[in-house]
Amino acid sequence: MKIRKLLLLVPLVLLACATEAPFDPLIDYEEVDAMTIIDAPTPAYVAPENAELVARGEYLVELLGCGACHTDGALIGEPDMRRSLAGSAIGIAYTNPLDNRNPGVVFAPNITPDRDTGIGRWTDNEIAEAVRSGLGRHGPRRILVMPWQGYAKISDDDAWAIVGYLRSLEPVENMVPADVPEGTRSSSPYVHFGVYRSRELGPG
Ligand code: HEC
Repeated sequence: MKIRKLLLLVPLVLLACATEAPFDPLIDYEEVDAMTIIDAPTPAYVAPENAELVARGEYLVELLGCGACHTDGALIGEPDMRRSLAGSAIGIAYTNPLDNRNPGVVFAPNITPDRDTGIGRWTDNEIAEAVRSGLGRHGPRRILVMPWQGYAKISDDDAWAIVGYLRSLEPVENMVPADVPEGTRSSSPYVHFGVYRSRELGPG
């Protein structure tokens, strides 16, 4: 009798060793209080004839929340207002982190007019296109995470106002970390927010 019981236990123990501990995303993440409201930075120089356009652009950039992603420390911690809109070293996951411990991560880049680390070399059209259609300098793929769908209907006048305002900013030199492909561990902290579909319910 004793031996029979023991024999039954052996396969159970082996099974437990063969299966990895289930991935629990709650162990890897903590909830943060996303309460930061960010003012858009004041332009460095505005030609008098552009004052109205640039003021409109500043209003739109505040309204559309560009700084919440494009400013370091705005997603978690304290925003670094000296480098407002100069990009974020805190990333945003673009694949489902509840399925994969190492999701793909992007970093909202520097959108001040710095020529090497920002959008100083982009044309007006390229900037407007990136905001309204998510097509940037990433080849044919759309910009990830940024809610360009919500910006798609921005009028031409407003798009030029945003471009005029971004160009009026002090160029800040700041390179954000490179994108992290899914499956690679990010060495920078990141947050995730997104839309996830619930799994299909099985029969019954
Ligand atoms: C929810 C976060 C978020 C918001 C809000 C947001 N962006 Fe972005 N933006 C990003 C991320 C992330 C990228 C880069 C994604 C990638 O590499 O695919 C990006 C890319 C860009 C780019 C392309 C720059 C480059 O170097 O590739 C521009 C231009 C840009 N954003 C401008 C804006 C403007 C203007 C606004 C406000 C109207 C805005 N963004 C709002 C997250 C955001």
